[in-house]
Amino acid sequence: MLIDGHGRTVDYLRVSVTERCNFRCQYCMPEKPFSWVPKENLLSFEELFLFMKVAMDEGVNKIRITGGEPLLREDLDTFIKMIHDYKPDIDLALTTNAYLLPQTAQRLKDAGLKRLNISLDSLIPAVAHKIAQKDVLAQVLKGIDKALEVGLGVKINMVPLKGINDNEILDIMDYCKERHIKVRFIEYMENRHAEQSLKGMHGREILEKVKEKHTIHALGREGASPSFNYELEDGYEFGLIDPHKHDFCENCNRIRLTAEGNLIPCLYFDEAMSIADSVKKGDIQGAADVLAQVLKDKPKENRWSEENPNEEDISSRAFYETGG
Ligand code: GTP
Ligand code: 5AD
Ligand code: SF4
Repeated sequence: MLIDGHGRTVDYLRVSVTERCNFRCQYCMPEKPFSWVPKENLLSFEELFLFMKVAMDEGVNKIRITGGEPLLREDLDTFIKMIHDYKPDIDLALTTNAYLLPQTAQRLKDAGLKRLNISLDSLIPAVAHKIAQKDVLAQVLKGIDKALEVGLGVKINMVPLKGINDNEILDIMDYCKERHIKVRFIEYMENRHAEQSLKGMHGREILEKVKEKHTIHALGREGASPSFNYELEDGYEFGLIDPHKHDFCENCNRIRLTAEGNLIPCLYFDEAMSIADSVKKGDIQGAADVLAQVLKDKPKENRWSEENPNEEDISSRAFYETGG
């Protein structure tokens, strides 16, 4: 079992396979970064997998593939099959913007993928275009339909932004309800790479919007998930991810691996240790030692502030390196 320096069990590994993305979401990557990680610095699937086997052997039972946009990495279904074949009962999921799903969903499902979390921030073409800085909506909706059609589990992530899509919370909820899928509203997490004029909505304000039309009943967190769940009068369940409160950090069960082999103990902080040298040499013990050190140093909680964020409350970590 993997236990961190604060006594928390870590059983969830998020693996980013590329930092590149075909969208430029204003809250994540509004400008193409000055330089991408050169392709030759990316770990191969075999190298990533060598580390993942160490983690799975030590008790990791949930793996999420992220990006950037993970579907941009060629032959992703081969990688998914490698993981699935090694541990068929693992909770194997992927977070995506859905743009490439119409042509990939079936292959992902066949390779052993179980579920997808999909970003959907607007149902109005011009607003979706404004957020992603590309005309994406029609293709994203097709991608969601395709994922459902092939039988993948689907959850929707929405980041409400003041003056941009804050009037669509109820519409996105209705869209999800009609399809029997869960929506999670995510508080915008301030970071230095985002468009700095953005203003997120506080979890409390998001719930107020929902209450304009519904009565809600708090259910609580499911396990170590950052999502706090609520139920509507008709039994429909939705979630709220509110990182400005730090209470889910108490149960944090996850670490993140980037495509170039940096092991990141917390989404908020820049600190990381590399497993690249170890896996390139096939040094399993070396990779296990780095993992042990990262767990020992895992921070207790993030530093997003509940008050108006000060300079020091803004994370400098690039979320496109870890897919949130
Ligand atoms: P499930 O397995 O479906 O619960 O997925 P998940 O919530 O772990 O994955 P997803 O990629 O959909 O995450 C949703 C968003 O929640 C992330 O993109 C982040 O914005 C936020 N989030 C997830 N994990 C953490 C975390 O450890 N800390 C913080 N601050 N936010 C997180
Ligand atoms: N704040 C909140 N959520 C974010 N995501 C990406 N950047 C941010 C941010 N700054 C979310 C996206 C996506 C997931 C991978 O991370 O909405 O669903
Ligand atoms: Fe791409 Fe996701 Fe970042 Fe949007 S949030 S730019 S889709 S990685």
